[in-house]
Amino acid sequence: MIEFQNVTKSYSHQKIAVDNLSMRIHNGEIFGFLGPNGAGKSTTIKMMTGILPVDKGEIILNGMNIAKEPLQAKKIFGYVPDSPNMFLRLKGIEYLHFIGDIYEVPAKVREEVITKLADDFEITHALQDQIQTYSHGMRQKIIIIGALLHQPDIWILDEPLTGLDPKSAHKVKEIMREYADSGKIVFFSTHVLEVAEKICDRVGIIDSGQIQFCGNIDEMRQHFATDSTLEQMFLEITDHE
Ligand SMILES: Nc1ncnc2c1ncn2[C@@H]1O[C@H](COP(=O)(O)OP(=O)(O)OP(=O)(O)O)[C@@H](O)[C@H]1O
Ligand SMILES: [Mg+2]
Repeated sequence: MIEFQNVTKSYSHQKIAVDNLSMRIHNGEIFGFLGPNGAGKSTTIKMMTGILPVDKGEIILNGMNIAKEPLQAKKIFGYVPDSPNMFLRLKGIEYLHFIGDIYEVPAKVREEVITKLADDFEITHALQDQIQTYSHGMRQKIIIIGALLHQPDIWILDEPLTGLDPKSAHKVKEIMREYADSGKIVFFSTHVLEVAEKICDRVGIIDSGQIQFCGNIDEMRQHFATDSTLEQMFLEITDHE
């Protein structure tokens, strides 16, 4: 389970980016984190992955506090950041072995995961090339494979579908479903509401740093007493006029 308890964050002296956020994400769930540009999604994800410290509040990942037990907490998630431009001088396969070394993934498991996922994503042919020669989508895929190498209990993705072709996006969604069905958590942010509506067990909608709704789509419809699409409800929730 992931627990956010009254989490607050501001950047320097500017306005509050995440404001007293509390929510829980359960095992076996695909959780979609939705909100307009600048709403606070990436800031929240950076806090839950320990990249940014929280100003106030707690984030607990399967019982482990990311601020107090950062090393143990970091072992249990895999993270796909919003920008895949890193380790560009490494060859794809070197990057994967680097990640495998950090997480102490046994050689046999590495071999299996890399072979299967590189094949699923059709990048086996590029594993011997430097990541700087990859397209945006290929970089995205190599990072997704790296994030799954140690088979984490929690898989956190920031805008994972941006830049992926339809076949690859479909594959990512398929893996997300398999992952959640095996009792693990998939937490991802997206702007693609059709995807969220189709694959998420629950969604959280954040706007100006504040959670406006957290629940499944049916609960959302009851909340609004309509049979609207997620898109209509989203627009209504985030309409400031
Ligand atoms: N490094 C930073 N320094 C100062 N302000 C920042 C920084 N990063 C984000 N912010 C501000 O924090 C707020 C939340 O930004 P955040 O990146 O979390 O939004 P987001 O929901 O991920 O948006 P998007 O959908 O565009 O990715 C915004 O007002 C943004 O301007
Ligand atoms: Mg973002």
